[in-house]
Amino acid sequence: MDLNFYHKTCSDFEEFLMHSCPKIEGFHPYFQNAFWEMLLSGGKRFRPKLLLAIVSGSIPSLAKNAFLPALALECLHTYSLIHDDLPAMDNADLRRGHRTLHKLYDETGAILVGDGLNTYAFYLLSIARLDEGVKIKLIEELSYNGGIGGMVIGQAMDCYFENKTLELEKLELIHLNKTAKLIASSLKMGAIISNLSIDIQNQLYDFGLKLGLYFQIRDDIIDATQSESQAGKNTSADGNKNSYVNLLGLQGAKQNAKDLCVQIIEMIEKYDMPIRKNLEDLLSGYLLQGDE
Ligand code: IPE
Ligand code: IPE
Ligand code: MG
Ligand code: MG
Ligand code: MG
Repeated sequence: MDLNFYHKTCSDFEEFLMHSCPKIEGFHPYFQNAFWEMLLSGGKRFRPKLLLAIVSGSIPSLAKNAFLPALALECLHTYSLIHDDLPAMDNADLRRGHRTLHKLYDETGAILVGDGLNTYAFYLLSIARLDEGVKIKLIEELSYNGGIGGMVIGQAMDCYFENKTLELEKLELIHLNKTAKLIASSLKMGAIISNLSIDIQNQLYDFGLKLGLYFQIRDDIIDATQSESQAGKNTSADGNKNSYVNLLGLQGAKQNAKDLCVQIIEMIEKYDMPIRKNLEDLLSGYLLQGDE
């Protein structure tokens, strides 16, 4: 198999995303432009790339059919960022190197673009060129892990416990919910599309929880160590939060991240080619930067 197939799939997906803004009827002065603006502003596309790593590594002929589910993940994730930046949540004015939507336009517009991206994600899943049963499973995964079973309850706990110090176990639960479950379901959704066994689906989900926890600890470290221009978003902004850096100190957070890295690398080594190679390619840029 062509080892570049995964890279090509990811770059084709990016091209696809850039041209996938839906036409929105109405006479709102800026909603049409604002709707896709945060998607066009960049981002690492980490969740779509995880899904595509599994599908392109399992059934290459299905990779293109996986673009709509991959886009659904990016829409739901981008909605979570738009809402995360609102004054009522983290009150941020920079995201993906651009002004946040509520700063560029107004809060009402930003809230509604977020709402629109959330529901549009499920519209995209419903119209994907995949078996009906597969699509129901995808909807089940994304609605639960991106909602009350994951991201939404995680964000609720994160914001509620600002200025109230939690013990590490509880912070881990917040990170697992607000970030790790969507990352875990990105891998599992790839496995569902690829018709992999329930065992492998669950194994990939568990791997994704570890990876997602690592990803959020790394994000906490980025807040403490990177400039706004490096990160493309506000940094030094977690002062009132329960973050790994605030609870463990920078060195403690880094040690925790390094320990998780070792476990993640071991877990990747258990996968067969080409899934293993795809995950290694994607994750090498994240896992080898222990000094961030
Ligand atoms: C930021 O997510 C919020 C977290 C869950 C840590 P990403 O780091 O994936 O942000 P983008 O998509 O690259 O902008
Ligand atoms: C946000 O976590 C997680 C989401 C579900 C959006 P953060 O608040 O740490 O994300 P950043 O640092 O603003 O990207
Ligand atoms: Mg937040
Ligand atoms: Mg934030
Ligand atoms: Mg953060």
